[in-house]
Amino acid sequence: MRMLSALALAASLAVAPAFASAAQASDNVSNGGVPVAMPSASAKQRFIDDLIARMTLEEKIGQLRLISIGADMPQPKLIKEIAAGRVGGTFNSVTRSENRPLQDAAVKQSRLKIPIFFAYDIVHGHRTVFPISLGLASSWDMTVVKQAARVAAQEASADGLDATFAPMVDISRDPRWGRTSEGFGEDPYLVSQSARASVQGFQGTSPANPDSLMAFVKHFALYGAVEGGRDYNVVDMSPMRMYQDYLPPYRAGIDAGAGGVMIALNSVNGTPATSNKWLLRDLLRDEWGFKGVTVSDHGAIEELMRHGVAKDGREAAKLAIEAGVDMSMADQQYLKQLPDLVKSGDVPIRFIDDAVREVLGAKYDMGLFADPYRRIGNAPQDPKDVYADDRLHRDAARDIARKSIVLLENQHDALPLKKAGKVAVIGPLADSKLDMMGSWSAAGKPAQAVSLLQGVRDTLGDKGQVTYARGANITDDPRVVEYLNFLDWDNPEVVQDKRTPQQMIDEAVQVARNADTLIVAVGESRGMSHEASSRTSLMLPGSQLALLQALKATGKPLVVVLMNGRPLDLNWSKVNADAMLETWYAGTEGGHAIADVLFGDYNPSGKLPISFPRSIGQIPTYYNQLRIGRPFTPGKPANYTSQYFEEDSGPLYAFGYGLSYTTFDVSKVKLSAKTMTIGATVEASVTVRNTGKREGETVVQLYLQDVAASIVRPIKELKGFQKVSLKPGESRTVQFAIDERSLKFYNAKLQYVAEPGDFNVQIGLDSQNVQQATFTLK
Ligand code: NOJ
Repeated sequence: MRMLSALALAASLAVAPAFASAAQASDNVSNGGVPVAMPSASAKQRFIDDLIARMTLEEKIGQLRLISIGADMPQPKLIKEIAAGRVGGTFNSVTRSENRPLQDAAVKQSRLKIPIFFAYDIVHGHRTVFPISLGLASSWDMTVVKQAARVAAQEASADGLDATFAPMVDISRDPRWGRTSEGFGEDPYLVSQSARASVQGFQGTSPANPDSLMAFVKHFALYGAVEGGRDYNVVDMSPMRMYQDYLPPYRAGIDAGAGGVMIALNSVNGTPATSNKWLLRDLLRDEWGFKGVTVSDHGAIEELMRHGVAKDGREAAKLAIEAGVDMSMADQQYLKQLPDLVKSGDVPIRFIDDAVREVLGAKYDMGLFADPYRRIGNAPQDPKDVYADDRLHRDAARDIARKSIVLLENQHDALPLKKAGKVAVIGPLADSKLDMMGSWSAAGKPAQAVSLLQGVRDTLGDKGQVTYARGANITDDPRVVEYLNFLDWDNPEVVQDKRTPQQMIDEAVQVARNADTLIVAVGESRGMSHEASSRTSLMLPGSQLALLQALKATGKPLVVVLMNGRPLDLNWSKVNADAMLETWYAGTEGGHAIADVLFGDYNPSGKLPISFPRSIGQIPTYYNQLRIGRPFTPGKPANYTSQYFEEDSGPLYAFGYGLSYTTFDVSKVKLSAKTMTIGATVEASVTVRNTGKREGETVVQLYLQDVAASIVRPIKELKGFQKVSLKPGESRTVQFAIDERSLKFYNAKLQYVAEPGDFNVQIGLDSQNVQQATFTLK
C-alpha cells in the first residue's frame, strides 16, 4: 500500500521523492516483522524506469558507489556525499542511531530522495555469534544453518541494517587458505544445501520484511580454489570441475532467491572475476537468470590494474562496468572515471543504466522505497543499550553450538566426564572470549561470550573443583604475533604472557598434577583463520604442542578441545589424547555448549564437512577426487600407485566423520529396483540401529559412484543425508530417493546429463565406511 502511494506521489511531482516522505514513512515503520506484500514486477519496473528517467549522470554513478563507513570516509564527509546523491549504500555501521543521519541525508536532502541501504558482514551471527560456518556445516542440519541466519537477520535488522555480505559459499579444499573458516567445507552438495538454508534464513519470506536482510552470496566465483591456498591468488580450473564442483553452491544461493552477489577478488582462468564478462553476464545473468545486484569486493576495480589487465583507472572502470559489476565497493574508480567514459562515448550509457536499475531494484526489494526507515525505526524506540544482554539469543546460540561440535576421539569412553572431582582447564584458548567468537564476528561483543573455563565452571558448579592455567601463548613466534596484531595495536588480538614458555608450562603441569582430568584448549587464535591468513603449516604452534606433551607426561587423562578454523595436523593428538573434540570457534555460548558435550548433557552428533589431512604435503585430501588409473588400495602394495611413500594414504579424519557417545550399526543397502529408467526413482534404504547405551543422533550419508562414464568421474559424491535420533536399541529405516538429477553431471561438452550404466550406491555414517549396492540406469 505504501509503495502505491509512493508511486502516485512520484508521478505527480516534477522532482518527486523516490518514496512517500521520510516523516510519513518513519511513522509507518512498526509493523513488527509482518511480511510486506510487494507490488508486481511490472510495477517495480515502472517505478524504477521513471526514477532513472529523472536522474542525472552524476546521480546514476552515485548509486553505484558502496562506501565503507570510517575506512573510506569519515561520517561528516559521508553525509555530504549522500546529500549530493553520490552514494548508493554503505557498510560497516551497526546501530540505528549511526544509520539514521545517513538515511536522513539521502531522503531529506538529496535531490531525488533515493534511500541508501546499509550492509554489513554478518556471516555467523550479528550480536549473538554462532559457530563459524565450518561449524554450522558440521551440524549437517540445515534447520540449524537456517536458524543461525534467521536470528542474525532479526538482530541486524533491529540495528537498522538491510543487507549482509553472506553467505560465503566458496568450496575450500585447501586448508592453508584462512578463509576456509568462513565457508561450509569441501563438498558441493553440503555447501549448496547450506547456501540455500542460509539465504532462506537471512531473507525470510522476503528481503522486504522489516526483520529480513538481503543476502549477498559470495565470492563469485571460485575464490576457495586460490592457488596454494594463498589468499587473493589466481584460480585456474577446468570448466568441468568448475561446473561440477565449485559453481553449484553460488547457484543454490541464487536459486534460493539471494538478492545480491559479491564478486570474487581472484582471477578465473586468466580474467579477474571483476572484469569477467563471461562470469558476470553470460553465466550469472544469461545462463542462471540472476536478477539481483552485483557488488565488487573491496577495492577490486582498482585492483584490475595490479592484476595487469587495465593500464589505468579509466580502463579498469570501463572493464568492470562492461563486465557487469553494478556497484563498486570502497573504490574511487567509478566515481572518477565513469562520467568521462560516458561523455566520450567510450562506455554506452546503457551499461550505467543497467547497473543503476539493479541497485534501485535491490533497494526496492529490500522495501526501502516503501519505507526507508523500515529497519532504522524512530529514535525514541532505539535500544537504550545496544549491548543489552536481553537482545541476545543465548538459548539458540548454545543449542546450535552443541550441534556443531565433532567428537574426533574417545578412547575407552574417556568422555563424557563425571560432574565431580578436580578438573584442570588449561591452554591459551581456554579462557579466551575473543577467540571463541571466530573471525567476522560482526557486532558480537567478546565480553558477552562464554569461555570454555567459564562454561566448565558453570556446568560443574559446586559438584567439583575447577583449576586453570594458561600453559602457553598461542605462539611464541614474534613474527606471527606481529602479523596477527597488525590491524589494531591498541586492542591486540593476541596478548602475550610475559612469562617464559617454561614458566607457563611448569605452572600448567603443577595444576595438572593436582587434577583428576585435564581439559586442554589448543588451536589457532581466530586471526589465524581469517582473510589474509594463509598458512604454510597445519601444525599446532610449537608452544602449544610443547604444552600438550608436558601435560601428557603427567599421566592424567587428556581431553583435547580444539578451537580452529581449518583442518589441522592432529597426528600427535590422535595418538596421545584420551579424547578430542573439534569445536571450531563456537560463538557467544561456546563455553557452555562445549561443557554440555564434555559432561554429557549433550551427546555429540557433528560430522566433519571437510577432510583432515595427515600432513600438509598431502593436500588436497578432499574425498570426492576424480578417479585415476593407478589408485592406491589399502592392504595392497603401494609401489606404482598414486600415493606418498613416507606416510599412510587417505585423510587422518575423513569427510563426514564424527563419533557419538553411543554406537550405531548400519545394515546392508536395500534398493527398490535393480534398474532405473529416466524419469523414475530408485529408493535406497538402510536400517540404522543404536547399539550403545545412550540416546544419540547420527548423520546417515548417501554417496553415489558412477561406475563408467564418458569422462572421468569422482570416486564418490555425496547426494543426500539425513540426521536421525535413536534411543538405545532403537532402529530406524532411512530411505533416500535417487532420481535422474542425482545421477547427472557435466560432460565434456558441459551438457548436464545422466548417462546409462551402473551406479554404486554407498550409505554410511562417514564417507569411508559404507555399505554398497548397485543399480543400472537404462
Ligand atoms: C573483503 C572481503 O573479501 C569480503 O568478504 C567482505 O565482504 C568485504 N571485505 C567487506 O567487508
